[in-house]
Amino acid sequence: MNSVSLSAKPRRTRPSWWMRKALPWLHAAVDPSTADFWLQRINPTWSWQRSLARIVSISHPAQGYVSVVLRPNKHFRGFKAGQHTNLSAIIHGRRITRSYSFTQPPGADGLLHLTVRHVEGGVLSSHLCQHARVGDVLELSRPFGNMRLAADAQRHLLLAAGSGITPLAALLREWAKQPASARTAPLTLVYWARTQAELCFAAEFQALAASQPLFQFVPVLTHEANGQACAEHNQLSPELLTSLGVNTEDADVRTCGPSGFVQAVHSVCSKTRSVEAEGFTPPVVQADAQGPASVQVELRRSRKKLELSTNLSLLEALEQAGLQPKHGCRMGVCHTCVCVRHDGTTQNLHDGSLDAEMGREVRLCVSRARTDLTLDL
Ligand SMILES: Cc1cc2nc3c(=O)[nH]c(=O)nc-3n(C[C@H](O)[C@H](O)[C@H](O)COP(=O)(O)OP(=O)(O)OC[C@H]3O[C@@H](n4cnc5c(N)ncnc54)[C@H](O)[C@@H]3O)c2cc1C
Ligand code: FES
Repeated sequence: MNSVSLSAKPRRTRPSWWMRKALPWLHAAVDPSTADFWLQRINPTWSWQRSLARIVSISHPAQGYVSVVLRPNKHFRGFKAGQHTNLSAIIHGRRITRSYSFTQPPGADGLLHLTVRHVEGGVLSSHLCQHARVGDVLELSRPFGNMRLAADAQRHLLLAAGSGITPLAALLREWAKQPASARTAPLTLVYWARTQAELCFAAEFQALAASQPLFQFVPVLTHEANGQACAEHNQLSPELLTSLGVNTEDADVRTCGPSGFVQAVHSVCSKTRSVEAEGFTPPVVQADAQGPASVQVELRRSRKKLELSTNLSLLEALEQAGLQPKHGCRMGVCHTCVCVRHDGTTQNLHDGSLDAEMGREVRLCVSRARTDLTLDL
């Protein structure tokens, strides 16, 4: 029998000498957007340097949600369960970027799984939920976020509200994939949704709880009969957790949801072993009668001077002035909007702290101006 050996010639694993010499030169000489223009005529996911991904399937894991599975091009370099990406799409000629979390841990097929909740009036979520089609191409940022399960936990507690289930689903699925011998600490998922129909992946979680004695799944519905039928009863509180049989003692808590929910977790779980949290909604800017309502902001690189409101984040104020600063999550997580503050004082919208140190980096989305400023923009 004739056989053909594919390994007769050793596979080249490193670029040759001339490629190593030529690549930096090529990178300097090629204009990425011109290269992308021509590359995408051949294949819409080809790009000189951007991570682009094609939608390969779409499903609806719950009412008001869409799940998309993406095949990224070679520029996308992997991620960890619990991380997020900034996803961009061109909608009515404008590039819109928002953050979404991976819902599955990395798999051998290289596919990426995202689940998006339809926000009424929301630009990108409406587009993805109503108009995304198999074959559409989206752009991804580098993955970001540090939420991981504690390696030495005695008890894992995951608290999710609404679309906050997404990164926690990836952590849970990674935990469930481990060999039984590696899963020593029990894991409880408490998951708040308005109605049963809005619980994502509920059948999967229930099946896992039935087969895996270390896993406890506790759905909590706030707008539907569920033992205790009313929204007030089912708000997060120490009493509710006790009544649901959820043990918080010595737990390592991972939580995700709207910022108000995440704040409630911090106060309810102040005595647990650790709390790592990610909020999906931006901090609210409290109007401040003490300081000036507007300040002068000099943008050094673009040589502009603007009068900006102090009652908006710097990102929103710059956008209101017609600029389009680079941004991603709009909540202080991804660091895409960072720029250097040469002069002036800014306030952190998460904790209210003031910062006047020259040459410090500032995240525009979670900072507001407190005095006249000079920014490296
Ligand atoms: C780290 C991170 C991970 C995330 N992961 C996920 C995830 O996995 N799944 C998920 O579903 N979400 C996730 N989010 C939230 C997501 O990034 C978006 O915020 C969400 O999808 C809404 O985006 P949008 O473009 O649809 O809404 P936006 O257009 O940003 O609108 C948000 C809100 O503002 C209102 N609004 C918009 N324009 C106006 C206007 N002109 N006037 C008045 N109101 C207006 C909208 O009605 C809406 O209520 C995550 C967020 C972060 C920070
Ligand atoms: S946009 Fe992500 S940190 Fe500001």
